[in-house]
Amino acid sequence: MSRSNSQYRLAARPVGLPKPTDWEYAEEPAAEPGEGELLIQTLYLSLDPAMRGWMNEGKSYIPPVGIGEVMRAGGVGRVVASRHPRFAVGDHVSGALGVQEYCLSDGRGLTKVDPALAPLPVYLGVLGMPGMTAYFGLLDIGRPQPGQTVVVSGAAGAVGSVVGQIAKLHGCRVIGIAGGERKCRLVVEEFGFDACIDYKSQDVRTALREAAPDGVDVYFDNVGGDILDAVLTRLARGARIVICGAISQYNATEPVKGPANYMSLLINRASMTGMVVFDYADRYGEAAAEMSGWLAAGKLRSLEDVVEGGVKAFPETLLRLFRGENTGKLVLKVADE
Ligand SMILES: NC(=O)c1ccc[n+]([C@@H]2O[C@H](COP(=O)([O-])OP(=O)(O)OC[C@H]3O[C@@H](n4cnc5c(N)ncnc54)[C@H](OP(=O)(O)O)[C@@H]3O)[C@@H](O)[C@H]2O)c1
Repeated sequence: MSRSNSQYRLAARPVGLPKPTDWEYAEEPAAEPGEGELLIQTLYLSLDPAMRGWMNEGKSYIPPVGIGEVMRAGGVGRVVASRHPRFAVGDHVSGALGVQEYCLSDGRGLTKVDPALAPLPVYLGVLGMPGMTAYFGLLDIGRPQPGQTVVVSGAAGAVGSVVGQIAKLHGCRVIGIAGGERKCRLVVEEFGFDACIDYKSQDVRTALREAAPDGVDVYFDNVGGDILDAVLTRLARGARIVICGAISQYNATEPVKGPANYMSLLINRASMTGMVVFDYADRYGEAAAEMSGWLAAGKLRSLEDVVEGGVKAFPETLLRLFRGENTGKLVLKVADE
């Protein structure tokens, strides 16, 4: 059967926010699987802040997307043709499908997912890469203890909302930082944080003095920049800072703004540690099992922000992350289930 595969390829390395001319839209016939291969129809794509980093030249924890290559993206899809012993037509899988309607795969890096156990977009959120990031970043690097104070930025987003909920499940006092009154209300009322600071209308340093009078034991940093600097001034002795991301800096055209207040690490015998979720790949099953249990028991709330529009809507939808227009996990719907 001949299928048309529309896709976005990287046309140029962006300076600042990605522009339409940084992308090339293409349509080509979807490939037929050879021996040991399968064809997956993309149903949902994961839109991630990290995509901005993958568009840059230069060394990172993963090679950049090459000019002319299909843009890298995680996704969930359905197997529509298979000559692979492990995958049958009709199976659902998650993996690096790319920004395209069909992905030809040799099966490496694919995980089977079950839509009867959780809605498919959840496999891109709580049960996907952001959930794994939250779980291991908080528990392995943040090491929160019951009664301690945990602060999370990007608190209404995919990673941050899960970090705060897991910290609550571990008996911590949890303070979110998010942009705008609506998001802060959601963080407290829906995700169960104890408090949330609106960094767009409040001075974070002053608000933290009130919300965390005994200091911050764990800071899970999703945003970097001025917010990281502000939290550094409020550390408790022995604090752990998890450097998960720095979205405030991803589109910077000037050198990245480093933390001026880092001497607080010395004064407070604190540490700041970077984490990359892929390092925990062989333990994802452990996290997925525990988080599925919490989801089933109603102890963990999963929120996905599913945007309609198909592959064509990718460039504009990606920008929502940098404008703060998403709440929870940003997902692009590509085809009906
Ligand atoms: N290290 C890893 O392995 C790993 C894995 C996954 C994700 N990450 C990182 O984790 C962070 C969160 O990712 P996510 O997928 O959960 O995204 P997300 O939080 O769902 O979406 C991004 C959010 O960032 C906030 N934001 C955007 N620009 C900002 C700015 N200038 N200052 C402060 N906040 C800003 C916006 O929320 P507001 O409206 O609240 O501003 C926006 O909604 C990112 O930095 C990402 O790169 C790291």
